[in-house]
Amino acid sequence: MVGKPKIQNKASHECEKILFDDLVVGHRYVCLGGKWGGNRDQTSKTFPADLLAIKGEKCYLHFVGLDKRLDEWVTIDRILYEDDGKTLCGDGSVAISAGKQGNKRKFMTADSEDAFEQQKKANKHRSTRHSVHSHGHQDPKTKVRNIKSVRLGNYIIDPWYYSPYPGKFGDDVDSLYICEFTFKYMLNLNTLAKHSQSSSKCPPGKMIYKDETRKLAAFEIPGKEHPVYCQNLCLFAKLFIEHKTLYYDVTPFTFYIVTEYDEDGHHPVAYYSKENHSAENYNLACILTFPPHQRKGYGRLLMSLSYEMSKRNGDFNGSPEKPLSDLGKLSYRSFWIFSILSFLREQPKGHAVNLEDIIQATGFKREDIISTIHYLGLLKHWKGQYTFHYTRNVLNEMLLPYDKRKFGDSYCKPECFLGTR
Ligand code: ACO
Repeated sequence: MVGKPKIQNKASHECEKILFDDLVVGHRYVCLGGKWGGNRDQTSKTFPADLLAIKGEKCYLHFVGLDKRLDEWVTIDRILYEDDGKTLCGDGSVAISAGKQGNKRKFMTADSEDAFEQQKKANKHRSTRHSVHSHGHQDPKTKVRNIKSVRLGNYIIDPWYYSPYPGKFGDDVDSLYICEFTFKYMLNLNTLAKHSQSSSKCPPGKMIYKDETRKLAAFEIPGKEHPVYCQNLCLFAKLFIEHKTLYYDVTPFTFYIVTEYDEDGHHPVAYYSKENHSAENYNLACILTFPPHQRKGYGRLLMSLSYEMSKRNGDFNGSPEKPLSDLGKLSYRSFWIFSILSFLREQPKGHAVNLEDIIQATGFKREDIISTIHYLGLLKHWKGQYTFHYTRNVLNEMLLPYDKRKFGDSYCKPECFLGTR
């Protein structure tokens, strides 16, 4: 066992190091954070964390208020002492006994506190509706990541969340081998090699978009016509999307998959799904860029594609299905900002633009446009009406960071759409 760790935020007389045998699954402990990517080394900070499972000498922790992709197996030296007064609810939501809330907050960073509040709101929201993202993980085993790594094409990827692969394929698996052309899953490389000999080297469905400069294509795949492919894709996607309840009935959805193509075939990099008839006018149900390809602009390619496809079908006022994940929020926020500000910048000098013009140009839902303009501080409420105020200098200043990284270059291009629509 490692020596007694330095404990922050707690008076020294309260520090009594917990013993392994005293740990109880379902209890909450104050724990040291982890190496959470980028510059986020949190190993010297303390966080409340729920103990979700114990295996051998390792404990599986969920850090309260932080995204579940940071959940991890840790050794006892990361667990400091019990955070008494709080218990874990069966549905994974957070229970706080009234008198203890102040105590809990003492151990939170500003970031995690904010996230904690958002999590509570999201949980409340989820419980009242049924959707593709409904909160379906009641079974405790679904709280623990069940697959250590997946191999897809040339990439080995660490999953972020539990995915309900059936039977032995989802039962505490070290490596799952996935065919990048069919998303069929296998337990060893030889089976994959045999399978690959006979599989087609491109997704099923119809190619609807081809960018020969960037060597990118998009395929439209109706769930009804290709149920096995779409189910397999959903199982894979669930490894990286927390709140997606898997639908074995994929027939009400159409899937759009983006590939990078070369002489070896079409290699998938991202996808989104869309409900064929959405009562709420959602134009996108789930979106995922496969982790090795994130932050390369594929998210905004898909977002622009989803709005463009809707507009071509005469549907305006579209919006992604809620709740959005943390990364979904960040990506949509920047996509909406850039799209709206660029539209305003393109207008001739002196031309007054109204909300309808922006809806027609972008296909965005009215509320998403208003919330984006409000977020930018450009919205004014005057005599019962919303107006927005900006100058060309303000637009240029706001767009500068986006222009610098050529943000708009990733959007879909009208000339790359195939066929007649
Ligand atoms: N940190 C900060 N900003 C980010 C991050 C991040 N990790 N990820 C995206 N952004 C913002 C940035 O402004 C980024 O532009 P930049 O890279 O030029 O700074 C912009 O969003 C878009 O970046 P893209 O490269 O186009 O997006 P990406 O291909 O990474 O895809 C997506 C975004 C799909 C949300 C991806 O993060 C993902 O697959 N996440 C996991 C699944 C998920 O959460 N899906 C959304 C669920 S909600 C729903 O489906 C309706």
